[in-house]
Amino acid sequence: MKNKTVIVTGAARGLGQKYALELAKAGASVVAADINSCEETKKIIQENGSDCLSLELDVTDFSSCKELAIKTLEKFNKIDVLINNAALYGTLKSGRFEDIDSDQWDRAMNVNVKGVWNCCRAVVPTMREQKSGSIINIASLAAIYGMPYAADYAASKAAVLGLTRVIAREVGKDGIRVNSVAPSMVKTDSAEEFLGEKAERAFDVIAKGQILQKTLEVDDIYGTILYLASDQSKFVTGQTLMVDGGSVLL
Ligand SMILES: NC(=O)c1ccc[n+]([C@@H]2O[C@H](COP(=O)([O-])OP(=O)(O)OC[C@H]3O[C@@H](n4cnc5c(N)ncnc54)[C@H](O)[C@@H]3O)[C@@H](O)[C@H]2O)c1
Repeated sequence: MKNKTVIVTGAARGLGQKYALELAKAGASVVAADINSCEETKKIIQENGSDCLSLELDVTDFSSCKELAIKTLEKFNKIDVLINNAALYGTLKSGRFEDIDSDQWDRAMNVNVKGVWNCCRAVVPTMREQKSGSIINIASLAAIYGMPYAADYAASKAAVLGLTRVIAREVGKDGIRVNSVAPSMVKTDSAEEFLGEKAERAFDVIAKGQILQKTLEVDDIYGTILYLASDQSKFVTGQTLMVDGGSVLL
């Protein structure tokens, strides 16, 4: 990843922070952006001897996303990779589809879908000029499997898959690739928050439903992110890569 500039949204904690730290270790210049402070992410990256720009970002606000692109260009002169990882997950209250709070539904769509669209349209003009770029949209197994009691979340992540395919077709001629990664459940603070007291049982049931019967760990996803961010995947676009131990077979 040497000489690559990577933006990671939702990099204050959880999976986004992990992607930022690992991509920096792999040699990338990282922009860590989140609605919460990414100073901790930046500090760890700098302690490990790499460069990092930490920015506050609200993905639902297009001007905030444009600012992200402008500040990235000012510091690193290019944008090679965008990882659309920011999302609402743990704070969404699970329930039957007909009982989901209407405001919560709107918030999930606003952050998880509009946020991805906003960040894509903020960076694509730069990637077009460069004639290169890789966009990685974080979806979820929830979208493909149809995770019960999470209709808002699952629908928002299914929309991410649709958006990925459309944008991939529209920007391919400009040398830009767009793919989705769909992980199964990972033990992050957000996942535990979402599952509450049912967490242990849920992880167990999910693991037993996979071909590879173990709970997905943060380290298990990063290789797929690195592959899509790097030129090793240069002929791969519009795809959904499941990182789910073989829960669903596409
Ligand atoms: N943990 C899992 O089991 C799992 C499984 C499949 C997919 N995912 C996806 O992976 C990603 C990361 O998951 P996580 O478990 O680390 O979740 P998380 O809640 O810890 O991280 C999400 C981050 O997004 C940020 N964010 C929320 N709203 C934002 C906004 N408007 N603008 C900018 N940033 C905002 C949050 O502050 C947070 O740091 C999410 O897209 C999630 O849907 C997670």
